[in-house]
Amino acid sequence: MFEILERSEMAQGTVVMNVIRAPKIAAKARPGQFVILRANETGERIPLTMADTDSAQGTITIIYQVVGKSTALFKTLQVGQFFLDVLGPLGQPTHIEKQEGLIICIGGGTGTAVVHPITKGFKNAGNRVVAIIGARTKDLLIMEDKMTAASSQLKVCTDDGSYGHHGFVSDILKEFIDSGQKISTVVAAGPVPMMKAIANMTRPHGIQTLVSLNSIMIDGTGMCGGCRVSVGGKNQFTCVDGPEFDGHQVDFDGLMQRLAAYKEQEAQSMNEASHTCKLGQDR
Ligand SMILES: Cc1cc2nc3c(=O)[nH]c(=O)nc-3n(C[C@H](O)[C@H](O)[C@H](O)COP(=O)(O)OP(=O)(O)OC[C@H]3O[C@@H](n4cnc5c(N)ncnc54)[C@H](O)[C@@H]3O)c2cc1C
Ligand code: FES
Repeated sequence: MFEILERSEMAQGTVVMNVIRAPKIAAKARPGQFVILRANETGERIPLTMADTDSAQGTITIIYQVVGKSTALFKTLQVGQFFLDVLGPLGQPTHIEKQEGLIICIGGGTGTAVVHPITKGFKNAGNRVVAIIGARTKDLLIMEDKMTAASSQLKVCTDDGSYGHHGFVSDILKEFIDSGQKISTVVAAGPVPMMKAIANMTRPHGIQTLVSLNSIMIDGTGMCGGCRVSVGGKNQFTCVDGPEFDGHQVDFDGLMQRLAAYKEQEAQSMNEASHTCKLGQDR
């Protein structure tokens, strides 16, 4: 059992942050890795990135968007309550080293939670790190203070222009590319169309581009094949080979198709859960 020590809501209650006591995971975790959580015996296994870890306190932080049945159930858990299982750390950590040029870390929506530890890791390794974060509108922006602390420079964008740059994260990336500064690596996490646009922008410039993929996972240990994605024409498992891959090699269209495969069942499951009020009782 894994106790929730802190809880807060962001982005008008659509995003929830939990600090969870998990000393063994916190001691081993590295940037880019994730955990799989289950709220109770009948709950689904849900992969979430560790947005932060504190090995001294023995805690990990998750930040998740409430999008369906399981994340809605997670949202009902309060401080002092428990996740039944937290499995991890899972996946390959980001390869972090001191690089010659600029590192640019880009987070769209809750992708910001995914790039946060990676941004921090690159900065701690002595790199100059520009972070670019974006959301549809100001009220949906998350982690501005944390990303300011984690990076050397933070740029903020909103699609509707209510805060920061009016436009997309890729507009700011283009400004950096056009400025002629040497960029060693771009890391992106967020909606698949955003990651695809960024990879398409950096490809002609030969800038190494890592994308953190959010394929649907079941076991998270390389056994079921559910999370497979085509990278450079070869099947890779996001849970054990990723979650980060070379953005120039990923078949984003195939990934989008696989992510949409269970839309009907997901909507039905959310609908049934809210109608029978099971979300609160399931614990
Ligand atoms: C490695 C990894 C790290 C992730 N990190 C974060 C994070 O830090 N913050 C965050 O908000 N989200 C993250 N996600 C996405 C998160 O796992 C899904 O939003 C969550 O599983 C949705 O479950 P649900 O039952 O609430 O929604 P559902 O109604 O079941 O599904 C809504 C959408 O979520 C996705 N999804 C559903 N089930 C799974 C599953 N078992 N595995 C992966 N995706 C699924 C699908 O795209 C689906 O269309 C991550 C996914 C992966 C693979
Ligand atoms: S989730 Fe089963 S192989 Fe990756």
